[in-house]
Amino acid sequence: MRTLGSALLLFCGAVFLLAGAPQQYQSTGFSSVRPILAAQCASCHGAESPAGGLRLDTYEGVMKGGVSGKSVIAGKPDQSLLLRRIKGTVKPQMPPGGTMRSGDVSKIEAWIRAGAKQ
Ligand code: HEC
Repeated sequence: MRTLGSALLLFCGAVFLLAGAPQQYQSTGFSSVRPILAAQCASCHGAESPAGGLRLDTYEGVMKGGVSGKSVIAGKPDQSLLLRRIKGTVKPQMPPGGTMRSGDVSKIEAWIRAGAKQ
């Protein structure tokens, strides 16, 4: 009986680890914001003459920033121009017209707060 109990415990532990690991990756890695930037920003901030010198189609581009310097300060969403332009606290708002869904804004904020990891 004790062996069965241990086996069950081990099994639950394994399931917990397997289920938890990818979720954690998704919530903090660049993959959690890449689709948002690709759909709503990359048309103007792509490889060909990126607006404001800022590329938002690659992780490197996002971290490098644009003509105003860095757009993302890891761990500091409130100081990140990218998020301030999305929220409209620095004008003009991005995307022009300010149409990003609040769920997407939260994802970008969470990604920067968690360290803007690749
Ligand atoms: C329709 C085109 C267009 C789209 C879509 C767009 N932008 Fe922009 N963006 C611009 C232009 C043009 C500039 C340069 C002029 C300015 O700073 O307003 C700019 C500038 C910026 C800057 C300032 C860069 C710097 O260093 O000065 C940031 C940050 C930015 N955009 C973020 C975003 C984000 C994030 C998105 C997606 C949510 C986005 N933009 C979508 C046209 C666009």
